[in-house]
Amino acid sequence: MGKAVVANFGGQYAHLIARRLREAGLYAVLAQPEELEDVLRRGGVAAVVLSGGPRSVLEEEVEVAPSILDAGVPVLGICYGHQLLAKMLGGRVERGPGEYGDTKVRLLEGDPLLEGLDREEVVWMSHGDYVASPPPGFKVLAVSERGYIAAMRSPDRPIYGVQFHPEVSHTAKGRLIFRNFVEKVVGLAPSQRWDPASQVPGIIDRIRAAVGPGEKVLVAVSGGVDSTVTAVLVARAVGGRAVPIFVNHGLFREGEPEEVLSSLRGLGLDVVYVDASERFLSRLEGIEDCEERRRIVGETFAEVFAEVASRIEGAKWLAQGTLYPDVVESGAVKGADRIKSHHNVAGLPRWLGLKVLEPLRDFYKDEVRAIGRVLGLPEELINRHPFPGPGLAVRVMGRFTREKLEIAKRASRIVEEELRRAGLYDKVWQAFAAVGDDKWVGVKGDARAVGHVVIIRVVQSEDAMTADWPQLDKEILSRISSRLTSEVPGVVMVAYAITQKPPATIEPC
Ligand code: XMP
Repeated sequence: MGKAVVANFGGQYAHLIARRLREAGLYAVLAQPEELEDVLRRGGVAAVVLSGGPRSVLEEEVEVAPSILDAGVPVLGICYGHQLLAKMLGGRVERGPGEYGDTKVRLLEGDPLLEGLDREEVVWMSHGDYVASPPPGFKVLAVSERGYIAAMRSPDRPIYGVQFHPEVSHTAKGRLIFRNFVEKVVGLAPSQRWDPASQVPGIIDRIRAAVGPGEKVLVAVSGGVDSTVTAVLVARAVGGRAVPIFVNHGLFREGEPEEVLSSLRGLGLDVVYVDASERFLSRLEGIEDCEERRRIVGETFAEVFAEVASRIEGAKWLAQGTLYPDVVESGAVKGADRIKSHHNVAGLPRWLGLKVLEPLRDFYKDEVRAIGRVLGLPEELINRHPFPGPGLAVRVMGRFTREKLEIAKRASRIVEEELRRAGLYDKVWQAFAAVGDDKWVGVKGDARAVGHVVIIRVVQSEDAMTADWPQLDKEILSRISSRLTSEVPGVVMVAYAITQKPPATIEPC
């Protein structure tokens, strides 16, 4: 079975579509629309999905070659992709008042794509343009309350359009639609299902084939799942020639460096540990601008890493835990505004003259977790929340001081502990505490005590592109508040952040 190709029209959902297809068992990659024809010509494509996007077919030329519809490969157009299909095949698209959010649709005809759906379903829509008349011969499978075409198909070919977004979790039967598409339209058999865990032997073989005899592979490990899985894969491939290096930048949560070291050593990794916290913290002290802090952390990291690397004879490679979204984004952010310059070790190989290994570059995070499981990583490590490279440096607001860092360290630990105790840790994307310069008057005993305001941020998210905050029980919030104000010196007030992303980002700076 070949792969699915998702033409990325710039919607924020293209990655979600690829993830849903992979979950349904069909390996999927993203491609630029203008590449589609070439990709199909090269072969090995089992399905094409045209994603949603911010554009309008009423205003722009179609940049997809019409021949892609004649290749005999099943096609699914979603939102903009649905309108694009209509336009390419002779239907009519018009601008309307739009449908946004949960929307009722009514099924008119049975079809393999929609098998298992009720006659009426709630789906998630986000569109202004709509397909006013379908291409000649097309069957309308479902309509919305407004009477717009919600799903349609070609009479004689496996070409489908849906106006709604089956990839988002708000469309309750969205996963079922992808499963139907993959199993009933594309015809994937159970034995052909893509399974990230089964890729492990191949990944290990490829690492072994790349690394020459006697060459060593450095791996910068942070205790996060991506770098740990990378290190274990490299160690399985080249044994003792894998050299994991853990740099303590002093910006971890309380107790974390010790935990990271012991869990890495528990996995049989012979980790080189470098405590460079003083060097990082003395350079960060007093710096107000977060981007400047990111730069300092990145640069200091590279410097420390280079010193360690220069002492390791035979070091020729650097293995990084780069994931598929990073690969796509680094190639395709056309004019996108840089909101935050996320620090990773991307600049290192050039500095060090090392060749790069990226064994996880084809995978999404949930797939890396599946790989971690077959490698025998403990569940606790696999489910750890993402932690920013510059660590708590991005959770201190205003001037960077050691006092505020200390508060963020202890407070973040307490927030995590309380979420674990409530059984919520694994249900949220991230949970932490941030601290700035705002002060609040308190009473300690009978005396006036002025102290910091600590902000608790707990978010649910699928990919960190958007995020929402959960309504935590009063009991949990109260416990967090009383522990923070009694156990963390200098804290008088605790606030809970209640703004989604967007407009706010997840980290405070
Ligand atoms: P924002 O704050 O941009 O965060 O909504 C999105 C995700 O990225 C993480 N993050 C970072 N990760 N280096 C990283 O490696 C960084 O500088 C950085 N800043 C934010 C953040 O924790 C969230 O998961």
